[in-house]
Amino acid sequence: MISEKMQKALNDQIQAEMFSSYLYLSMSACFHNANMDGMAHWMSVQSREEYGHAMKIFGYIIERGGKVELGAIEKPPMCINLRDYGNKKRENSFGIL
Ligand SMILES: [Fe+2]
Repeated sequence: MISEKMQKALNDQIQAEMFSSYLYLSMSACFHNANMDGMAHWMSVQSREEYGHAMKIFGYIIERGGKVELGAIEKPPMCINLRDYGNKKRENSFGIL
């Protein structure tokens, strides 16, 4: 059995991994929209990797007799125009696809 504190930390990590997966999936969609299929595929692969991390923790909690409690997944940032992204990059400011 795992402690309540550890169980909460692991459940929080599942949520973080799932958000990462969702964020990569969103980026994949942005690249598809920009007809950048290679990048879209790469982001999709990253999304599945993060999902895999979440599922490993999911399985570990159950294996140790704990309780999985899934939290809400935040909406990922929206795509920005790739040209805008290039301009922001030149300005050395943060931009996400
Ligand atoms: Fe991860």
